[in-house]
Amino acid sequence: MNDQASTLRSMVSQRDAGTHNNMRVIAVGSGKGGVGKTSFVVNLAIALSELNYRVIVLDGDLGLANVDVVFGMTAKYSIRHLLSGEKRIEDILCPVKRGIKVLPGASGMFELANLDRGQLKNVLVNLGRLEKMADVLLIDTGAGLGHTVLNFLCASDEVIVITTPEPPAMADAYGLLKSLKGQQEQLNLKIVINRIHHESEAEICFEKLEHAAKKFLGLRVNLLGWIYDDPLMGKSIMEQYPLGLANPESLAYKYIQWIAGNVTGMDQRPPSSSGGIRKLIFSILKN
Ligand SMILES: Nc1ncnc2c1ncn2[C@@H]1O[C@H](COP(=O)(O)OP(=O)(O)OP(=O)(O)O)[C@@H](O)[C@H]1O
Ligand SMILES: [Mg+2]
Repeated sequence: MNDQASTLRSMVSQRDAGTHNNMRVIAVGSGKGGVGKTSFVVNLAIALSELNYRVIVLDGDLGLANVDVVFGMTAKYSIRHLLSGEKRIEDILCPVKRGIKVLPGASGMFELANLDRGQLKNVLVNLGRLEKMADVLLIDTGAGLGHTVLNFLCASDEVIVITTPEPPAMADAYGLLKSLKGQQEQLNLKIVINRIHHESEAEICFEKLEHAAKKFLGLRVNLLGWIYDDPLMGKSIMEQYPLGLANPESLAYKYIQWIAGNVTGMDQRPPSSSGGIRKLIFSILKN
């Protein structure tokens, strides 16, 4: 990995002696844009908070940092202020809903490539504090396969690759897996299939990705879950009020709650599973 990647690794998963509390760092990427990363991250944060997890969301989308906006807030400070030493991590964290905090990315992220020693120290000291504040750090990344996206994904303990069933999204999800494999051998990869209309779609998509990843990349991927296409998701984005808060009974959010359970290792069935999906469920539960 290059220097920027190792800096990011230090930033997001610094495990200083004495500050270690096993905060999990989970990054979400997709390859193709617009497949639902931000919607998923925001609602996964809410679903994890319902399970009493303390969650911080790092907005790692440089181009269109908008996690705070989806939560209906506007962040005052970004990680830029942390790097410059102007602010401490507690000042930058933007409290949104249900105890969830957003660490706004913005353009300050570009500076990670060239941190001087003072800035680096500042970041590490601050992130040591982050470890005590959260159980999970969820990272929303931007679209594409740029360095920053790959660095965030490689710097994380776990990577969730999200795709829709559409062939271009699937092709780009595979492209992302390929790029990740090129950067790092050891990867903990999970797949989420978003915007499905029927369970069989999730099954077919996952098996395609799993097969290609194994055959051509020698990579093992696991299915974390799937989410139904739900018009209420689009409505919640328009209204800047997350689905999990506006419509916790909605189909999409029910499945995100199920996925949150899978993230925490809970042993549960999908909200409504048919017999044909048993093989997939087995594939989830055995991991
Ligand atoms: N399960 C779903 N059902 C219906 N619509 C969805 C679903 N998931 C996401 N969407 C819609 O897809 C659009 C794109 O979602 P989102 O912004 O979360 O994608 P993204 O991957 O973060 O995009 P970008 O790559 O631009 O950051 C939004 O309008 C959102 O409402
Ligand atoms: Mg997004």
